[in-house]
Amino acid sequence: MIRFIANPFRSKSLTAMLVASLALGTVANLGSARAETKSSDPTILARQELMDKIKNASGVLGGMASGKIAFDQTKAAEAAAALAADAAAIPAHFETEVQDKATEGKPEIWLNFADFTSKADALYAAAQSVDSSSVEGLKTSMGPIGGACKACHSAYRM
Ligand code: HEC
Repeated sequence: MIRFIANPFRSKSLTAMLVASLALGTVANLGSARAETKSSDPTILARQELMDKIKNASGVLGGMASGKIAFDQTKAAEAAAALAADAAAIPAHFETEVQDKATEGKPEIWLNFADFTSKADALYAAAQSVDSSSVEGLKTSMGPIGGACKACHSAYRM
């Protein structure tokens, strides 16, 4: 299924911007491009919230690796498991093509969905391989995790 909501901030025509803004109920925000990052579309909001969970779980692992958060083996293992589960949920969250002005997902996601999914798999694999037994283990695990975020974002996030 493909739903496309015109992006008022990419439109050159003021009339088109107004029509699109009215449709989105965002007249008050007209002109303030990307003022809000959270979408009012439930599909987009769900994928943004999944990404926030991914950020939080990887933040715990990275924080412990860098010493900003006290190392706790149980919490590290839990964060790694949460990260793996969230990574596994990425493809289903992006299956339906929806775009609006708040999304940072590029249209290329749906042109190259198999590649997008393989980049989610890479994050899953990195999360599954986290060595949560020590700070040293976390340090070596962070490279592949950060690499997996970056590989997908540089291709598919605005
Ligand atoms: C398979 C692709 C993919 C992977 C892997 C991935 N992301 Fe994302 N991420 C995206 C896309 C696409 C968006 C834009 C979503 C949107 O705005 O609709 C995004 C958005 C985000 C956002 C912004 C969410 C918001 O509230 O708007 C954060 C934070 C984020 N990612 C963190 C991470 C971190 C940290 C990792 C690695 C641990 C990661 N992502 C891995 C594709 C990915």
